[in-house]
Amino acid sequence: MGGKFNGRNKRSDAFAMLESCHRRLEQRLDDLLRAAGAVARGRSRATHLDAIAEVLDYLERAAARHEADEEESVFPRLDKRKTGRLVTTLTNEHKMHRKLAKKLRTVFSNFTAEPTTTEGASLLRIASELDAAYRGHIDLEDEQLVPVMRDLLSAQDLSEILSEMQNRRRGRVQGSKERRNGNRRASERRNTDGRRASDPYSSRHRS
Ligand SMILES: [Fe+2]
Ligand SMILES: [Fe+2]
Repeated sequence: MGGKFNGRNKRSDAFAMLESCHRRLEQRLDDLLRAAGAVARGRSRATHLDAIAEVLDYLERAAARHEADEEESVFPRLDKRKTGRLVTTLTNEHKMHRKLAKKLRTVFSNFTAEPTTTEGASLLRIASELDAAYRGHIDLEDEQLVPVMRDLLSAQDLSEILSEMQNRRRGRVQGSKERRNGNRRASERRNTDGRRASDPYSSRHRS
């Protein structure tokens, strides 16, 4: 799974950042499965619950940000005529990851003070599903997305992608949610303005 990025290990370019996110995600998934397994076997300690909470935070912030890197910086720069269904497939898989992470959060939030093996098994089942989904996804990106990026993107594209990724980590690039909310507000403003402009009653009373 590793080694598809020519062995870069610094955050010096977009490929290195993507690789480092993938490797960290795999480590976090290992942590999650280990901790969820301990709860499912009735051997949970506070450290296992802390580990699950940390991985959930990671999934909701860092992994979500990594997917924003791909959806907002990488995918829009790829020529859809040359990538076939790859981008659609990866985007749909991101949606599935978010759905599973949300389910995981719900199950974890409903844990009793001393979680039972049944509660643990339920968490482990979703964690295993998420693990399988992410690992297949990462393989697809390492095997197909990265070569496609190398083929299709210019040095300028890659430099802009890196800069957007770095800004996203400094909080300078709007996340997808903020962007969606911003777009919705802008669209509401446009609709309101449009209604005003086309509404004779309203325009009469404006003048
Ligand atoms: Fe992805
Ligand atoms: Fe990725």
